[in-house]
Amino acid sequence: MNGPREPIGVIGTGYVGLVTAAGFADLGSDVFCVDIDEAKIELLRRGEVPIFEPGLAEVLSRNRERIHFSTTLEEAIAGARLLFVCVGTPATYAGDADLSAVNAVVEAMPASSEHALVMKSTVPCGTGRAIQRSFSEQGKDALAYVSCPEFLKEGSALADFRKPDRVVVGADSDSWAAEAVAALYEPLGAPLVRTDVASAEMIKLAANAFLATKISFINEIANVCEETGANVLEVARGVGLDERIGPKFLSAGIGYGGSCFTKDVSALKLLAANSGYHFQLLGSVIEVNELQKRRVVAKLARHLGVLAGARIGLLGLAFKPNTDDMRGASSLVLAARLAAEGAHVRAYDPIATAEALRVMPELDCAQRVEDALEGADAVVLVTEWPELVALDWQKVAAAMAGNVVIDGRNALDPVAVRAAGLIYEGIGVG
Ligand code: UGA
Repeated sequence: MNGPREPIGVIGTGYVGLVTAAGFADLGSDVFCVDIDEAKIELLRRGEVPIFEPGLAEVLSRNRERIHFSTTLEEAIAGARLLFVCVGTPATYAGDADLSAVNAVVEAMPASSEHALVMKSTVPCGTGRAIQRSFSEQGKDALAYVSCPEFLKEGSALADFRKPDRVVVGADSDSWAAEAVAALYEPLGAPLVRTDVASAEMIKLAANAFLATKISFINEIANVCEETGANVLEVARGVGLDERIGPKFLSAGIGYGGSCFTKDVSALKLLAANSGYHFQLLGSVIEVNELQKRRVVAKLARHLGVLAGARIGLLGLAFKPNTDDMRGASSLVLAARLAAEGAHVRAYDPIATAEALRVMPELDCAQRVEDALEGADAVVLVTEWPELVALDWQKVAAAMAGNVVIDGRNALDPVAVRAAGLIYEGIGVG
């Protein structure tokens, strides 16, 4: 060790990797970051940050001396005992988690009794056991293995790092590496869940699946509210005050997005199926979410009559505010469905336009919000960015050709929208 705090290696410099690196460097650790993407490492060495995450650039910059970037593992292996694996585990075509990046790291690990692989990437339950088996086959039995799942949310990732609800450390009961990982997190003062590897893996999947279930549940309640005249905002408030339920993740909208819920719910469902169990509930959670993204199209058709030729402004593209992440974004389904109906879609997002065009190159993106509003027959709030929530609705009304506003996040002030002579429709708010 070369300082008062344990140095660490971080393999993979995506959201999880960079936030882990920044967070631990800020706590005083030397951090050796590794990524196979040379262009990304070059960028990071120059002090640029390839993703948008509030505060991340500042924290990386103030810890420049402590954070080292490389495209190979040597420096990390020489400088740290704990090697945090933060590589992507996207869904395969079959919907399971694609572990090829994880497996490449496993192959590259040294046969060392002084090192530990600390798994931060979200992996199916059973992966740790399989990796330990493969270490054994490769003569790397001495290498320690720890599961330490990450629970950060994009957009508030650094705050989540500093104030986690809990830290989960899964390893064999006599693991030195588990002690070392727990010690690293100790200054954060969070409850520690010290458990076995399989349970740690399942905690992560179950947490995401439960949160997604909560969202699909409130979305279905919202849909029933629309039929019965109840208001989902009132219902969520009344229900959420029950301490057993809690107020969080009860915001109805146009469906959850992001890479994690979409991927992890499907991965858990298939993990169950692969081991012979039919996880019925999660099938419904996924289906409700897919239908929820499409319900807006029906709402627009009800107001506008035919969608062919209609001009629709999409306000926001990212899967949630404070991120440029477009993975699993509801806007992608909405834009594609509207285009298929023959509507002209013009979208605006304060940050995510470049990412959106990478995923959907044919999308018509406006540089300014005014250009997405100009001449629109209807606008849909897709992402509740503060600047979109704060729009001057009198000006919006003057710019639009039509008068329909669909609030896909229940984030706008219906009184202000209606006062501008516009028709307001939210999700489950009557
Ligand atoms: C989610 C989890 O919240 C994190 O704990 C977890 O670490 C992460 O996945 C992961 O596995 O990496 P994230 O995807 O960044 O985090 O975003 P969330 O803030 O959870 O939002 C996910 C989606 O749900 C967004 O599209 C959001 O708009 C939607 N949402 C959220 C709702 O529709 N209603 C709600 O009440 C809450």
